[in-house]
Formats: sequence, C-alpha cells, structure tokens
Amino acid sequence: MAKLNITVCMGSSCFARGNAQNLELIENYIKDNGLDAEIDLSGARCSGICAKGPNIIVNGVEYNNVTEEKILEILNSVKTA
Ligand code: FES
Repeated sequence: MAKLNITVCMGSSCFARGNAQNLELIENYIKDNGLDAEIDLSGARCSGICAKGPNIIVNGVEYNNVTEEKILEILNSVKTA
C-alpha cells in the first residue's frame, strides 16, 4: 500500500472554505479504515493561495478547491494501491 503524506491548510480562509469538514473527513476515514500507518496527516499555515482554496497537499502535489468527493477519490486510490 502506498504511503500518503497529507497536509491540510489550516489558514482561516481554507478552513472556512471547507477544510474544517475536509479535515474531519480525513480523520474519520483514517480511523474507520485503520490507515494510521499509511497516512501521515498534518496541518499547514496559509501559503498565500487562499483564492484557490480550500487547499491540501498530497505527497507534494497541491490540490485546490478540494471537495469531499475529491478527498475520497484520493483516499480510495491509496486504499486500492
Ligand atoms: S488559508 Fe489556505 S492558502 Fe491561505
């Protein structure tokens, strides 16, 4: 299984635009699927691209306007990798 490094922008703009829910979704997903060892989750401060938010970074790749669907897509790809 591939190891995922997920960084969620916790700046106030991204947080208000959806990362509050996105973070919760990721945490629940990790818990429900026992993926603690596979997913490294961390928070980041505003990186100045708020207009494109909510932003998350997965293995160094930046994703913008991240929706819950998008996150599930990313997480499911790890699970099946
Ligand atoms: S708050 Fe996330 S980039 Fe600014």
